[in-house]
Amino acid sequence: MSKVVCPGSFNPVTLGHLDVFERCARLFEEVVVLVSYNSRKRYDVSSDQRVEWIRRAVSHLPNVTVESHGGLLADFVKSCAADMIVKGVRNANDVLVESQMYFANRELLRGGADTLFLPTCETFCYMSSSLVRDIASHGGDISTFVPASIAHEVADAYRPGR
Ligand code: PNS
Repeated sequence: MSKVVCPGSFNPVTLGHLDVFERCARLFEEVVVLVSYNSRKRYDVSSDQRVEWIRRAVSHLPNVTVESHGGLLADFVKSCAADMIVKGVRNANDVLVESQMYFANRELLRGGADTLFLPTCETFCYMSSSLVRDIASHGGDISTFVPASIAHEVADAYRPGR
C-alpha cells in the first residue's frame, strides 16, 4: 500500500488536516491531497486558492502533492491508481458521516481502493474549518488553528466585510 488520496473541502486547511497529511507522509510512499467538492457545502474561497494554501502548508513534505477535482472521488482515485483513501476522524459523528462516504466509494470502486480512517490526535479533535471561518469572520485570531505560513491570508480571506 503506497499511494493514498486524502480528500476534503479544506475550507480552509487547518492544523488538524496538516497533522493527518504529515502522518500519511510517514506511513505511505506517495500522498495526494485532493481538494474536492462537497455538494452539501458552500464555498466562499475558490478551490485554486485552497490548493495554493495547502501546497504552502505541505512544502516541507516531499512525497505530498496537492490537486483539485470537481467530479467523483472514486473516479479520481481510479485515474491516479491510488491504493487507499485516507480520512481523518475526530469523533463519533465524523465516523458516522465518513462511513456513509466510505460505503458510497466502496460501491463505486467495486473492490478497488479501500478507505482508512485515521483518528485525529487529541490536540486537534475540537478543531474544524467552520470554527476557523467563524472566528476569522468576527476578526478573531486564528493563528493557533491554521498553518503559520498561510494564517494572514486565511484571516484576510474570511475577514468581516469581504
Ligand atoms: O471535508 P469534507 O467536506 O467532509 O469532504 C467531503 C468530500 C469533498 C471528500 C466528499 O464530499 C467528496 O468526496 N466529494 C466528491 C464527490 C463524490 O465523490 N461524492 C460521492 C461520494 S462521497
